[in-house]
Amino acid sequence: MEGSIISFLLSILLLSSFGLSLNSIITDKDSLMSFKHSTSDPYSILSTNWSQNTSVCDWIGVSCGLKHRRVIALNLSGYDLAGTVAPHLGNLTFLRYLDISFNSFTGILPFELSKLRRLKVMNLGTNSYTGEIPTWLGSLSQLEELYLYNNTFLGTIPTSLFNNSNLQILALNDNQLSGPIPHGMFNVSSIREIRIRNNSLSGWLPNEMCNNIPNIKILSLSYNRLEGHIPSNIWKCRPLEILSLSFNNFSGNIPHEIGRLTMLTYLYLGYNNGFRGGVPLEIGNLTRLERVNIDSASLTGDIPSSIFNISSLTFLSFSDNSLSGSIPTFHNLPMLEKLYLYNNKFTGWLPSIMCNNKSSIKEVYLSENQLEGNIPPNILSCKHLELLDLSQNNLRGNIPRAIGNTSMLRELYLAFNNFTGIFLYMIIFVFLFYITLFG
Ligand SMILES: *[C@@H]1O[C@H](CO)[C@@H](O)[C@H](O)[C@H]1NC(C)=O
Ligand SMILES: *[C@@H]1O[C@H](CO)[C@@H](O)[C@H](O)[C@H]1NC(C)=O
Ligand SMILES: *[C@@H]1O[C@H](CO)[C@@H](O)[C@H](O)[C@H]1NC(C)=O
Ligand SMILES: *[C@@H]1O[C@H](CO)[C@@H](O)[C@H](O)[C@H]1NC(C)=O
Ligand SMILES: *[C@@H]1O[C@H](CO)[C@@H](O)[C@H](O)[C@H]1NC(C)=O
Ligand SMILES: *[C@@H]1O[C@H](CO)[C@@H](O)[C@H](O)[C@H]1NC(C)=O
Ligand SMILES: *[C@@H]1O[C@H](CO)[C@@H](O)[C@H](O)[C@H]1NC(C)=O
Ligand SMILES: *[C@@H]1O[C@H](CO)[C@@H](O)[C@H](O)[C@H]1NC(C)=O
Ligand SMILES: *[C@@H]1O[C@H](CO)[C@@H](O)[C@H](O)[C@H]1NC(C)=O
Ligand SMILES: *[C@@H]1O[C@H](CO)[C@@H](O)[C@H](O)[C@H]1NC(C)=O
Ligand SMILES: *[C@@H]1O[C@H](CO)[C@@H](O)[C@H](O)[C@H]1NC(C)=O
Ligand SMILES: *[C@@H]1O[C@H](CO)[C@@H](O)[C@H](O)[C@H]1NC(C)=O
Repeated sequence: MEGSIISFLLSILLLSSFGLSLNSIITDKDSLMSFKHSTSDPYSILSTNWSQNTSVCDWIGVSCGLKHRRVIALNLSGYDLAGTVAPHLGNLTFLRYLDISFNSFTGILPFELSKLRRLKVMNLGTNSYTGEIPTWLGSLSQLEELYLYNNTFLGTIPTSLFNNSNLQILALNDNQLSGPIPHGMFNVSSIREIRIRNNSLSGWLPNEMCNNIPNIKILSLSYNRLEGHIPSNIWKCRPLEILSLSFNNFSGNIPHEIGRLTMLTYLYLGYNNGFRGGVPLEIGNLTRLERVNIDSASLTGDIPSSIFNISSLTFLSFSDNSLSGSIPTFHNLPMLEKLYLYNNKFTGWLPSIMCNNKSSIKEVYLSENQLEGNIPPNILSCKHLELLDLSQNNLRGNIPRAIGNTSMLRELYLAFNNFTGIFLYMIIFVFLFYITLFG
């Protein structure tokens, strides 16, 4: 008796849940059909593939969950689709991954998308969305990765985004956002990547900015209007691999504490005219550095020679500063391809050993300094050298004849020095390379 009641109840339960899931998959199909009808589809990708008689789960760009057969992922990246996004997408309530990046969608984001409670990844990058970044994005509590880059979003970054303790990646780069960086951004302990390059954000970085973001790997804030000091608290962002603060209006000293970010591979601080002081010695401790650019940052003093011992460096640029002292030899940098030190106040001779036979160096810009002496003959060991700019210095003596044997050399700039016999060599070079003496 009891058993039959239970089995009766159970079958009702089964029937109704079957009915529910059937309804739901129909909802998913309706939602996607509405989306298709509101979308311009120049390559007829959706119009040929998303047909009424096939299951949504077989449609291109659509993935369903194994159990419920509900749509869990929609990936239509790069199909050149256009139009406004149908609010009906908000009915895909099982959606976890939404990627419609690299299309031409326009308008504002429909509020109905706030119904996508299970969403983990939302990628709307490289479209033409406009308006303010909606505050309701902060209510998508499962969201881990939010990409809104390269649209025309305006206004400020809503604080509500940081109400989410699961957020790992925030990419708002290449928009037109203004106002300050909400302090809450530095309070999301799960955050790994903050990409806000190329906006119009202003104000200061909070002094305690690295207290609560122990997982941060990428902090990209270049091309904004930020000012004030780089907080010395920066060392607490220990996992940082990319630090990009260039093209802002930062001032003060570059903090020594940057030398404690031992995971750093890219360090970009250039084009901040308000800096003063020198290159911190401690940067020489960063043994994973690959690319360093601190151009045009009012730096004075010597370049710590320890930097010329970081064997992973491929690109080193300190141009347009007031650095002085001599140029350390860079033969300990087997990976270095580009060295830009032009327009400084370097003195002394060119390093007597510039490269050895392990060097990868391709481009060396040392123009507009006060270098003296001869061009060292062993410049010829720079087997991969394509460009050498020594113009506007006080170099003298002969130009080594064998420079003509460095087979990769395409461009050589030697103008405004005190070389002897330059015109003889000019004639030889003209036949060998494309050469610009007056560049
Ligand atoms: C869809 O079904 C119609 C008939 O209901 C059929 O004529 C058509 O060929 C079917 N299309 C596909 C892609 O199966
Ligand atoms: C739609 O595209 C998917 C994935 O490319 C393919 O497996 C399926 O057969 C296509 N369906 C139709 C009706 O063209
Ligand atoms: C969508 O597809 C593109 C290209 O196939 C891929 O790079 C991207 O990771 C996919 N997005 C998601 C959320 O899986
Ligand atoms: C789907 O979404 C639209 C717009 O948000 C709504 O009007 C409609 O009722 C929804 N459909 C279902 C079946 O839930
Ligand atoms: C940004 O979007 C524009 C079109 O809206 C495109 O031409 C450009 O390549 C995109 N830039 C990047 C870096 O993806
Ligand atoms: C912040 O999160 C809480 C809990 O997740 C939620 O109730 C609240 O609506 C959120 N606030 C905003 C502004 O999104
Ligand atoms: C900044 O973004 C705009 C698009 O919003 C783009 O046209 C421009 O090239 C970007 N600038 C830089 C320096 O990346
Ligand atoms: C940081 O988060 C804590 C709780 O996680 C909260 O009490 C505090 O107000 C937040 N601070 C900011 C600046 O948002
Ligand atoms: C940069 O900051 C200085 C103060 O440090 C200020 O005087 C100057 O106006 C700022 N420049 C710009 C372009 O914002
Ligand atoms: C970092 O560099 C400074 C100055 O060059 C040096 O005194 C210090 O010992 C270094 N620290 C580590 C951990 O290597
Ligand atoms: C550079 O490395 C060499 C050996 O690897 C070492 O002898 C020298 O002291 C180092 N120079 C600096 C300035 O760290
Ligand atoms: C590279 O230089 C070292 C010493 O500087 C020399 O022993 C070796 O033979 C050279 N290798 C080549 C391939 O020239």
